Amino acid sequence: MKAYRAALLWFAPHDGGAVRARFEQDGLLVVGPNAAGTQVVLAIGEFRTVHDAYPLVVVEHLPERIIAPGFLDMHVHFPQVNVIGSPAAGLLPWLENYTFPEEKRFEAPEYSAQAAHVFVAELLRNGVTTALAFATSHPESVNALFSQAQAKHMRLMTGLCLMDRNAPDAVLNRCADVGSTSRAEQSLIDSEELIRRWHGTDRLGYAITPRFALSCTDAQLRGAGDLAARYPDVWIQSHVAENQDEIAWARQLFPQSRSYLATYDDFGLLRKRAIYAHCIHLDTADRSLMHETGAAAAVCPTSNLFLGSGFFDYLGADSAGFAYGLASDVGGGTSFSPFHTMLAAYYVGREGQAKAGLSLSPQHLWWQHTAGAARALGLEGVVGNLLPGCEADFLVLNPKATPLLERKTSLAASLDELLFSMIVLGDDRLVERVVISQAL
Ligand code: GUN
Ligand code: ZN
Repeated sequence: MKAYRAALLWFAPHDGGAVRARFEQDGLLVVGPNAAGTQVVLAIGEFRTVHDAYPLVVVEHLPERIIAPGFLDMHVHFPQVNVIGSPAAGLLPWLENYTFPEEKRFEAPEYSAQAAHVFVAELLRNGVTTALAFATSHPESVNALFSQAQAKHMRLMTGLCLMDRNAPDAVLNRCADVGSTSRAEQSLIDSEELIRRWHGTDRLGYAITPRFALSCTDAQLRGAGDLAARYPDVWIQSHVAENQDEIAWARQLFPQSRSYLATYDDFGLLRKRAIYAHCIHLDTADRSLMHETGAAAAVCPTSNLFLGSGFFDYLGADSAGFAYGLASDVGGGTSFSPFHTMLAAYYVGREGQAKAGLSLSPQHLWWQHTAGAARALGLEGVVGNLLPGCEADFLVLNPKATPLLERKTSLAASLDELLFSMIVLGDDRLVERVVISQAL
């Protein structure tokens, strides 16, 4: 058991009402093993009160520091670190000219392994302690990323990218070595093998990953839906309604479905723990479908601004009541830093809500990248917060990390002002230390 004395930031349990951040200027966080041996939060609150309950605990004092929950990235591409900042007219030429050529290289286990090393280090350095990530269509890339996350005790979900059409051969799923097994069949055999090997091992989880409906045949999507039905607690991840050209092509490929989003529902791919990146160009019926099925949106504001895709409709999402949280979408996204993503989400929220005279509050932005993201991922009470019982993934933030941050945060007269200063001026320099929960 160990305790940390610092300013503390966490969130009240979600009750469907407004997000409520909790802040204790002089707080104590006590962590220790639960019955399973996992390091979890045992107590949190005002220093004196908590210390009285744990008088013998060893205390590390961190003056002028803020302890906050580790961030969650709900949608990020491990093979796209080198793709960040590749300009294109829009999503489809960006995929063709930059992304697919880079993803080809992940067939080589050595290339995948060194990229996984860089990727996991970059997430952690930026304070991201849980990620739902895309790999490539090569099983080597999935094994490399799981292995690296396991070595760092990180909570991470990924899976084999399902692609059996509309891309160069080298990024499609492999054909069987012998016999007449199709790419679709082989990709589902490979996915199931990877589920059995990795899902539930340490802090790892499997995500069935149809890249997007455009890259998958009916047979592959049907097989993905069957697999999801047989493994109800694995995640599902994909993309939807990001870009107008993409949507037009999806409508041509699946004319029998009511909408692009409905295509996934028709193949059994909308449910709890199904996370759809972007969800920009949805209509009212789509938003109801998200809510009814329990699927959630990964909102990717830096990517949407960079690729000119559009603006997530926060008001529409809230009135339908579906879950969402923030994501970098690196390499369409431009930064691993949750501070950059929260700031971009603020801009996106302003665009949509200015007419209603609203803007996203700093507490809500921070929640979308921590407890709100955990809720959307089906990990509420596990990560993304520091309530007792949560796994002890947390950050030590230094609000004086740069001269401007020091000047601005010292002027903050309220929690909202303090959080906004960090959202607007913060980056990896704010994250002084990252503590990851470990099983003993
Ligand atoms: N849609 C299909 N693949 C991708 C991808 O790699 N990035 C983004 N932003 N959208 C996609
Ligand atoms: Zn993406």
